[in-house]
Amino acid sequence: MDLPYKTLKGMQDIVPPDIFLWQEVEQTARRIFSSFGFQEIRPPVLEATSIFSRSIGEQTDIVEKEMYSFIDKGGRNVSLRPEGTASVVRSYVEHNLHTLPSPQKFYYFGPMFRYERPQSGRLRQFYQIGVEAFADPHAGMDAEVIAMLARFLAAIGIRDISFQINSIGCDRCRPGYREALLTFFAGKKEDLCPDCIRRYDRNPLRILDCKVDRCREMRRGAPRITDHICEACRTHFEKLQELLSVLDVVFTVNAEMVRGLDYYTGTTFEVAGQGLGAQNAIAAGGRYDRLVAEFGGPDTPAIGFAIGMERLVGLLKQAAPVSVPAPDAFIVALGEAAAIEGLRIACRLRDSGRWVELGNAGSSLKSQMRRAGRLAARYAFILGADELRSGEVRWKDLADASQGLVRLSDIEGFLAGRC
Ligand code: HAM
Repeated sequence: MDLPYKTLKGMQDIVPPDIFLWQEVEQTARRIFSSFGFQEIRPPVLEATSIFSRSIGEQTDIVEKEMYSFIDKGGRNVSLRPEGTASVVRSYVEHNLHTLPSPQKFYYFGPMFRYERPQSGRLRQFYQIGVEAFADPHAGMDAEVIAMLARFLAAIGIRDISFQINSIGCDRCRPGYREALLTFFAGKKEDLCPDCIRRYDRNPLRILDCKVDRCREMRRGAPRITDHICEACRTHFEKLQELLSVLDVVFTVNAEMVRGLDYYTGTTFEVAGQGLGAQNAIAAGGRYDRLVAEFGGPDTPAIGFAIGMERLVGLLKQAAPVSVPAPDAFIVALGEAAAIEGLRIACRLRDSGRWVELGNAGSSLKSQMRRAGRLAARYAFILGADELRSGEVRWKDLADASQGLVRLSDIEGFLAGRC
């Protein structure tokens, strides 16, 4: 139908029944992340543009092409956040959270905005669940963060996950690796794709990540970062691998994995989902040990990741249909007096956390029962003049059609024993 108003391209509503899956995923994340000592943080969606260009990198795709930036009414250059890390770092520094006992660990949920070419699994407004842990430089923290992600994915039913991990080195070893790459690609530069020709001068590591066939071909035999990292980075990376094995996290080392954001140092990782097509990274992250200092805070190492909610929910929906919640009770009220008593009972049950629906007292028994069936209510309670007199109400189990009588005052206890 040609409606006058629709969502913008690359943006979508999240409506029932999918929303139930989203809520379940978010609840599981809260539960698991809290058990690892992470606390929620909620930075604003709109920030100064410089926060992102500075941290993600002026020459990255996100900053060059994908930001929703505009000048606000006060003449400030602002952007809808394309990711959460920069905002959390800004907040950590702004609120002196580094003065609290270390490590400080945060998680966040929320929409991110990137003006990308929309396709399956790639949106312009998408949601992330992210975590950031500050002030622990040890490989143990990298392992804990990755293990937490693995546990979360297992808890929501994502099977057969494998992490790809890499170390992209630090300020000491990356310049040498960069030089080695420049030397390797020097004679072939003109044959690279136009994006990689630009990358050659700006960020040659990203040539390793290019999806264009001829660039893939040309990088065969390129120097590997893992052969160029310094002793400290190597020890850290080896310790991480040892700890991941101890924690039963399945991983492979992918020396070609370089992330599309400039702030990373040392450990980087990604998790891909099966059957998602080209946009298959469901979560990704890494260390960013320089960023807090760049934002004016004390020298503070940090690590985090973000999960793409739409991709995750896409995977879950492939595995099983969304289970839609149903009311515990449906009160069929026949007549005015029953409607009033039904309302009273419903409110009492709702006070104890039950989901209760009320029939329309003006409708027939049959039509109210039909509605109870459509809602897949667990039990129907049929309340008419006779029941009000006797103080007993008829219950019906809508799943197996069994039925019986229960005292009006006992409905709460009746449900407590059954659902
Ligand atoms: P990222 O790799 O840019 O990292 O995004 C993380 C995840 O967000 C991706 O793996 C993907 O699942 C999802 N995602 C990204 N772009 C889109 C899109 N256009 N449509 C749908 N889903 C998308 C970051 O954002 C870093 N801040 C992660 C991080 C946290 N690193 C350290 N701490």
